[in-house]
Amino acid sequence: MRHDAPPAGGPQHAVQACALGKAYAGVPALQQVDFCLAPGEIRALLGKNGAGKSTLLRILAGAHAPDSGTLHVGGRRVAAFTPRDARALGVAMVHQELSLVPALGVAENILLGRWRRGRLFVDHAAMRREAAAALAMLGAAIDPALPVRRLSIAQQQMVEIARALSLDPRVLILDEPTSSLSAADAARLLGCVRTLAARGVAVIYVSHRMDEIQQVADSVTVLRDGRHVGTVPIAQAPTAEIVRLMTGRTAAAATRPAARTPGPVALEVRGLSTRGKLRGVSLDVHAGEIVGLAGLLGAGRTELLRAVYGLDPAEVGEVSVRGEPVVRRSPARMIGHGVGLAPEDRKKDGLVLGMGIAENLVLASPARVMRGPWLSRTRQSSLARHAAALTAVKCASLDDPVRSLSGGNQQKVVLGKWLNAGVQVLLLDEPTRGVDIDAKHQIYDLLRALAAQGTAVLVASSEPEELMALCDRLLVMKEGAIVARREVHGTTLAEVMALAMGEHVHGHDT
Ligand SMILES: Nc1ncnc2c1ncn2[C@@H]1O[C@H](COP(=O)(O)OP(=O)(O)OP(=O)(O)O)[C@@H](O)[C@H]1O
Ligand SMILES: [Mg+2]
Repeated sequence: MRHDAPPAGGPQHAVQACALGKAYAGVPALQQVDFCLAPGEIRALLGKNGAGKSTLLRILAGAHAPDSGTLHVGGRRVAAFTPRDARALGVAMVHQELSLVPALGVAENILLGRWRRGRLFVDHAAMRREAAAALAMLGAAIDPALPVRRLSIAQQQMVEIARALSLDPRVLILDEPTSSLSAADAARLLGCVRTLAARGVAVIYVSHRMDEIQQVADSVTVLRDGRHVGTVPIAQAPTAEIVRLMTGRTAAAATRPAARTPGPVALEVRGLSTRGKLRGVSLDVHAGEIVGLAGLLGAGRTELLRAVYGLDPAEVGEVSVRGEPVVRRSPARMIGHGVGLAPEDRKKDGLVLGMGIAENLVLASPARVMRGPWLSRTRQSSLARHAAALTAVKCASLDDPVRSLSGGNQQKVVLGKWLNAGVQVLLLDEPTRGVDIDAKHQIYDLLRALAAQGTAVLVASSEPEELMALCDRLLVMKEGAIVARREVHGTTLAEVMALAMGEHVHGHDT
């Protein structure tokens, strides 16, 4: 790394980037982007999926080198900047995709690369104390001695953030830190961010949750197609204005679905219990119906979807698809019965990262791309093109590896894969996690269109607004059981939020 003296007399920025440019395989991801941030400022970085947010942040954190432009950190010109240099200058980044080592403990992950040594061996006790202090800043009740593979996604996210905090950064970069957090954890994180900013830490924050932005940011920077389109104080950036900057047009009002007459029962679950989590869950989803699973994190929504799909063994209980009981459930059998699951952890269960976008898009529809025993490239590419267009995947070529897509675009591939498969029952776990608000509405429209064609959809989401916009009926879960059932028509957002929080609301609960 080379340092030059700070520009004489110039204002001292925590970060100052000028005319940054970056292309991947000749396709521009950032063009002529300027970005300045003062110490103690909280800046929201916004833009649609693929706009270049993560690319910019990776450059600021030394993880990617820009093709052009200059960068100053703490007033010093830096070039040939590596993640190690960034850390030395006080820049810490929480990446969009989880990067923990599952086999190691929480403390070992938080202090990765900085393990403490005792006289002879690694001093695990000292590391656990240090890790506990970082977790305490976030108010996270996670045992530092646990192996990371035992943690939920939300807990893993908290560990990633604790790792960044333990570096005592002067510039803290958070790329969608709350996409899998509960409302309570997210609120604690935002509180922590404000405390750090008050102490002079500069914070850059990416989120697709507009309410959060309005709460925590001092200012917003919007990128569109790799270009800087504006930086404004938050007071001058109501959500509608932000969406206009992001998309270049005014947002269409969210359309509520018209009430539909559902068809026969497509998915029937009776008395499903699992060791340790689910307690006697029964539900029906009719053909043409979208049913939402609401509840707090850890309420059992993911466990329910996984048990129905045969990913986790159930102790007791039956699942029938279109009147036919499915015994000894496994994903392969469920797919055979026309059931698909788009899981919560896209990196682990939803995608084959090393494979191409097109291959991933047709992964669940082998029958439609095979010609006899052979794969038909023509069929694969036309089916993939169709699915990519439906879900608005932004990519240079469908032959690129899925790994090269932005986070939100990877999520769209997970969905596109199941839209292609022509399933009769679709199970979705947090389907729009990390998806920009424009694409979200497109996905809602798509799911509604699927339902209108007779697909039964069961969707878990931690965003009550999403469930209200999308579903016909809601099931609220708490501690592994369904504690309330509501039609969306005639229910208010406030009521759904209260139910999800586990408060008792009068009504026809079962
Ligand atoms: N490693 C890579 N190889 C090839 N292309 C890439 C790579 N990383 C990003 N891109 C491309 O660069 C563009 C910008 O991606 P980036 O990840 O910065 O978007 P983003 O704004 O963070 O989106 P999201 O909201 O979905 O996370 C996208 O078109 C993406 O496909
Ligand atoms: Mg990103």
